[in-house]
Amino acid sequence: MADTAVVIVAAGKGERAGGGVPKQYRDIAGRPLLAWTLAPFLQHGRIGAVQLVIDPAQSELFEAATRGMDLPAPVAGGSDRQGSVLAGLEALVPLSPANVMIHDAARPFVTSSLIDRLLAALDGGASGAIPALAMTDTVKRCRDGTILETLDRNELARAQTPQTFRYADILAAHRAAAGKALTDDAAVAEAAGLKVAAVAGEEGNVKITSAEDVLAAQARLGAREMRVGSGFDVHAFCPGDHVMLCGIAIPHDAGLAGDSDADVGLHVLVDAMLGALCEGDLGRHFPPGDPTWKGRASADLVSVAVDLMDRRGARLVHADLTIICERPRLARHQPAMREKVAELLGITPGRVNVKVTSTDGLGFAGRGEGIAGMAAVTLEVPCV
Ligand code: CTP
Ligand code: MG
Repeated sequence: MADTAVVIVAAGKGERAGGGVPKQYRDIAGRPLLAWTLAPFLQHGRIGAVQLVIDPAQSELFEAATRGMDLPAPVAGGSDRQGSVLAGLEALVPLSPANVMIHDAARPFVTSSLIDRLLAALDGGASGAIPALAMTDTVKRCRDGTILETLDRNELARAQTPQTFRYADILAAHRAAAGKALTDDAAVAEAAGLKVAAVAGEEGNVKITSAEDVLAAQARLGAREMRVGSGFDVHAFCPGDHVMLCGIAIPHDAGLAGDSDADVGLHVLVDAMLGALCEGDLGRHFPPGDPTWKGRASADLVSVAVDLMDRRGARLVHADLTIICERPRLARHQPAMREKVAELLGITPGRVNVKVTSTDGLGFAGRGEGIAGMAAVTLEVPCV
């Protein structure tokens, strides 16, 4: 049920962050900050509309940051944040959603569980809810560098956004408070006598304010991790005159049985790539008996896995394949197999290893009933 709209205020100048471009449009790990901020709201099932409030002088930056996104036209902000919020709320009058979340463009780390907690507070009867954090340090009231008193920190909390309200209530409260210079929307709600709940905020939900914050966000959103995937596969021999291994046709007095060209080398490679991406197995992507894959070159399976990797922003660092069989003898084909795998993956052969081994005459491979393969691949993937 999409009963909630979001107002994102992005009309500030970002002066404290510096950097030439207003902070909400700064490139952070390959995307503008605003695009990171929008993502959790656009993906949430209860959010029906996201209304942006911008500075019209920055509309080109806004267009570039939100290209391809399904958003209503932005409205112009005011001279302070409160004025910008009111403009966003007024723009939602035709829609009049049940709830509205008011959020700073400069906070890109909202989680879906934070959105859930805030909406749950409204569902439970509160007319407003904000994320709040406990004070962990002792708090002093100071003037001119001298302490006047020590405050009871148990009654103090740090307010974050998104601040969430029943739409009709907060619209009326903001209209009544226009020009009063209140610092957040909860203060506007308090002035109107609304009861606002404080739900658990998140330390990670920081507001990008200074140049140092921009650097920390770049490190957090650009973080990548290494993943290792493994693959295993077996194909039985059948009548034929060659086997396909790692994309190379190798003459033999038998072929390999299978839906595609039964290239056990490429199958284990793809299996390991799917493993590192947590994308299930070969059977999920290429169902056995599916006519689409009948007789297809296994190189096409590799292209599908490479596409999946590209869409996730992943990079293949290394692939190590082992082919297990008694015959055909493979040693002289190893360099060609390695070159071919590197070509299909679009990486240098120095990142690929192809090993061959027999099983000393033991087991199905030793008896010459088929060929087995194993693979390990290492991928570098974004943490987010
Ligand atoms: N904001 C706004 N309209 C204004 C001022 C601020 O929409 N007239 C927005 C900012 O874009 C930001 C949020 O309110 O997303 C919080 O404000 P702040 O962190 O102070 O951002 P800026 O005002 O842009 O930064 P600075 O004060 O350093 O210039
Ligand atoms: Mg400001």
